[in-house]
Amino acid sequence: MLDFRAASQAHVVPHFTKGAAWNAENLVVMDRGEGCYVWDTDGNRYLDGLAGLFCTNLGHGRRDLAQEAARQMERLAFYPNWGFTHEPVSKAATLIADVAPGDLDEVFFVSSGSEAVESAMKFARNYHLANGDEGRYKVISREWSYHGTTLAALTVTGVPKFRKHFLPMMWDGVRHVPNTLGDTSEQLDSARAVEEMILAEGPETVAMVIAEPVQNGRGCLVPPDGYWQELRRICDRYGVLLCADEVICSFGRLGHFFGSERFGVVPDLITFAKGVTSAYLPLGGVVVRRALMDQIWDSEVGLFNHGSTFGGHPVATAVAAVNIQAMHDEKVMEHVRSHEQYLRDGFAALVAAHGIVREWRGTGYFYALELMRDRETGEDLSEADAAGLQGGVLARILREEGLLVRPDDRGATMLTFSPPLVADRDVIDDLHARADRVLNRTAAWLNENR
Ligand SMILES: Cc1ncc(COP(=O)(O)O)c(C=O)c1O
Repeated sequence: MLDFRAASQAHVVPHFTKGAAWNAENLVVMDRGEGCYVWDTDGNRYLDGLAGLFCTNLGHGRRDLAQEAARQMERLAFYPNWGFTHEPVSKAATLIADVAPGDLDEVFFVSSGSEAVESAMKFARNYHLANGDEGRYKVISREWSYHGTTLAALTVTGVPKFRKHFLPMMWDGVRHVPNTLGDTSEQLDSARAVEEMILAEGPETVAMVIAEPVQNGRGCLVPPDGYWQELRRICDRYGVLLCADEVICSFGRLGHFFGSERFGVVPDLITFAKGVTSAYLPLGGVVVRRALMDQIWDSEVGLFNHGSTFGGHPVATAVAAVNIQAMHDEKVMEHVRSHEQYLRDGFAALVAAHGIVREWRGTGYFYALELMRDRETGEDLSEADAAGLQGGVLARILREEGLLVRPDDRGATMLTFSPPLVADRDVIDDLHARADRVLNRTAAWLNENR
């Protein structure tokens, strides 16, 4: 039989993984999943505390989703969404329009989050052209934000380490402004920064502002009260489109189908991906306000001038429709909202017990813990501590404790949690117990490595 580890090491180019980690003899070969747990080929069981990568929202091993994919493949495996439509894409779009905030009810499908972000950017430009506003093309996004890796989406991304090698290949239309980290100002300085940037650039050149409801990069940045209302006011004032990038925050991560609902805002565009199929198949998209699309239809431009072969794929959209219907039938939003306090309380207890946690942030089923050496003395991690923890120590401890969460190095040393939305009290208890052991062992490592 093929040795999957050796074959992968010989032939697979991994995503964002250094050679030393990929070529290690203990490279994990994942085998199967059930609910909130996954197993590797050596029989080790892990709690999937990151929902894969913020996406296996209904958990692993769902037969209904697998059967729907098979049924749709047998009936019509593929037909493009250019000039044709079909049952699954119409069902998925209707279900998404039904749960999207306000009058956002036109859906453009793609196959990933990066493509969704690129589509939103092109849609904004296309809309402004339809409006006769030819000068608008710039995009404002926030520091440490992650909006994807294809070149235009990467330009919008604000994480230096992902951008730095590709800077000569990126366009110059994006401006980054401070995110909401630590903004407790009454006048919402972080929102004000968006307005100042629009004014500095000239409102007539700005097409879109993009932000996540809760920003993942830099560790679960929950915005201060009123932030999104302020962004809405600013964008309205200057004729700029407001895009909520909900690739992570939609389909239940914050206890609502769309995270914007949590903050009581109706953006102009929302990008989504990941949880729309609970990751059973790749699908992404952007849902836009009807009036924007009408403006394009009615203009000389006459179409959204963008597309891809697999956008609106019948099998992916069929799975999305069943996934969304299951979220309704199984009251997944209600489940998250009725369990989120329990999840939060457990993190509060963990933080109280562990002096190596500097800060913790989050909401819904989405949290980050930021690490330091000693909260009591205020001693931070040294560069060597951070390099050690981020360079493999955290990954090893997590793996040995069977907890798959993200050791994050974007701007601080953090652990990010985003369990499947079907996690119940037992799973949450297990998550906290494993995290407790991870923090104990991390503290021990720090003590031993002064
Ligand atoms: C907010 C956000 N936008 C866009 C993306 C890019 O999505 P993908 O990896 O599917 O291209 C991600 C990925 O994690 C994301 O978190």
